[in-house]
Amino acid sequence: MPNLSDATRHRILYGGDYNPEQWPEETWYEDVRLMRAAGVNSVTLGVFSWAKLEPRPGEYDFAWLDRLMDLMHENGIGVVLATPTASPPPWLGHLHPDTLPRDEDGRTEWWGGRQHFSHSSATYRRHAAAVTEALAARYGGHPALTMWHINNEYCTFDHGDEAAVRFRRWLQDRYGTLDALNTAWGTAFWSQGYGDWDEILPARRAHYLKNPTQVLDFRRFTSDMLLECFTAERDIVRRHTPHLPVTTNFMPLWHGQDAWRWAEEEDVVSVDLYPDPRDPHGAQEGALVQDMTRSQARGPWMLMEQAAGAVNWRGANHPKPRGLNRLWSLQAVARGADAVCYFQWRQSRQGAEKFHSGMVGHAGEEGRTHQEVKQLGADLARLGPHVAGSRVTADIAVLHDWHSWWAGDQDGRPSTRFAYPDVLRAWHRALWEARLTTDFAHPEHDLAPYRAVVVPQLYALTDAATDNLLAYVRGGGTLVCGFLTGTADQDDRIRPGGMDARLRELFGIRTLHEWWPLDTGETAVCDGFHGTLWSEEIEPDGTADETLPYQGGELDGLPAVLRKGRAWYLSTLPEPDALRDLLTRVAADAGARPVLGGLPADVEAVRRGDLLFLLNHGRDQVTVEVPGTHRDLLTDATVTDGVTLGRYGVAVLTEPPA
Ligand code: GAL
Repeated sequence: MPNLSDATRHRILYGGDYNPEQWPEETWYEDVRLMRAAGVNSVTLGVFSWAKLEPRPGEYDFAWLDRLMDLMHENGIGVVLATPTASPPPWLGHLHPDTLPRDEDGRTEWWGGRQHFSHSSATYRRHAAAVTEALAARYGGHPALTMWHINNEYCTFDHGDEAAVRFRRWLQDRYGTLDALNTAWGTAFWSQGYGDWDEILPARRAHYLKNPTQVLDFRRFTSDMLLECFTAERDIVRRHTPHLPVTTNFMPLWHGQDAWRWAEEEDVVSVDLYPDPRDPHGAQEGALVQDMTRSQARGPWMLMEQAAGAVNWRGANHPKPRGLNRLWSLQAVARGADAVCYFQWRQSRQGAEKFHSGMVGHAGEEGRTHQEVKQLGADLARLGPHVAGSRVTADIAVLHDWHSWWAGDQDGRPSTRFAYPDVLRAWHRALWEARLTTDFAHPEHDLAPYRAVVVPQLYALTDAATDNLLAYVRGGGTLVCGFLTGTADQDDRIRPGGMDARLRELFGIRTLHEWWPLDTGETAVCDGFHGTLWSEEIEPDGTADETLPYQGGELDGLPAVLRKGRAWYLSTLPEPDALRDLLTRVAADAGARPVLGGLPADVEAVRRGDLLFLLNHGRDQVTVEVPGTHRDLLTDATVTDGVTLGRYGVAVLTEPPA
């Protein structure tokens, strides 16, 4: 199978979405001049070009794209060619309203924006296949083509009638019989028993709480339908170009796709990443998404989109202050990216995203944003041969699963004061602050390579996942689980006793009497720290080696934290410093060491291959002690026993050549 290295060829890909159909052709020549000067070696063409490519049904106009493909080739810029199927032309919806999706209230999502396609519509799928076929036939042999980019950020839902038909078929495949479905969905409650498949609907608007397993299955179904759309187009382009890799861009921590499952179907895993420049935890957010994408890719991955400056979809859209674009881009490289790309090359003058930054902003070539883009291009060109293809290894895995998220984050639960991603972020951030490099893993993955496995919250665990966790601990691994783990099975059926019995035994819990969620701003005093979000009335069975009790209140003296051998259970979310300290200790006991000791507070350190990346996320100059003599690949300077980093400064250290 082809992979990212087939496109990078020992370089880091640098570039972005290029939407030249917005500009007169003379601008294309100016674009190419600027691209070359900025070290751009890759552009993504055609992401939203369907109406331009197929202005009338079955009538293609490739002349403009021919000229662009040639222009890119002549200038040594590779093309990631997109199928344009994320934004069908108006004629498709006009002629075939069945291609338009319906929301949960049955309202149509019309053309006039983008992503107005029903994943279940046979007509949409037929037209998407036809334009994909035409593109692949025309450009499969073009020398500029390096990779395929299918659709864009698959993220749509459809509750319409055609989706209902496919949903029933999907459920028949999953359950076989209505009896099995009724059992899995617990339809005995509230008179929901189904006597005919045709009675089953997508999770449409209901008067009160919806059946949670129906909602869970509808999410699974949606992810699977979108995946069918992806693989259908992927298979078409593969037939023409079996030697070229295929990707589609994920949104970070997006709830609509089971990205573990999707990643298995891609040659290259790519993601779009837009941390808020004003978020004090923006760097940690970036690190989380980068670690997750690398883990899905099981190696180098592609940063498909980021913003060179401001986005246009937050409340107050700040640009990136000087240096931040470079810092966050190099952070992605440190954490395994072999491609650093943007949305989009040239900032639009019209349309919905004219206030969204580009690599060339409204200020043009002289603008600060473009000047920084140019500097970064030079940095990446320097790093490429040393970095491309190399790996990041981690001693710790954080477990994450979309199905558990879908089951857990629903209405009608004990607390709506937190969402699952917040819990995941809190744990990953604690590990980041402890300077521990982490992978992500699925609960049924092989965990043997890791010294410690951290489970922030896996509300729904299959029997196989539970077996996997138990086997991991039996095999000598260290396991740390957060609250609401192992609560339900794959059908969202609560496990007897409120937590899988085998897990209770693992942690030394006799009875989990009650859950005591904490309100916003409320904390539970524990021995040595405060807990947030949640607490539990647990009766230990006396086998734990160590417990940290709640102090005061209803739970006084009951364990907030239990450790039995190498298995830890946290029945609350400790405040950030306490969680960091606890995980630091757990990691040390398990033999997982921080990347570097004694780092200044704002400095992140990551090892990739035999390089050490040091990234200063602060605005103050700092000195980082690094024993020995090294070469900084960014400056070519030799540094001995330490390096000084200015505001948002980065060093990439290697041993000097002998
Ligand atoms: C992404 C999308 C791009 C652009 C960008 C703006 O979600 O793929 O086309 O809209 O956001 O931030």
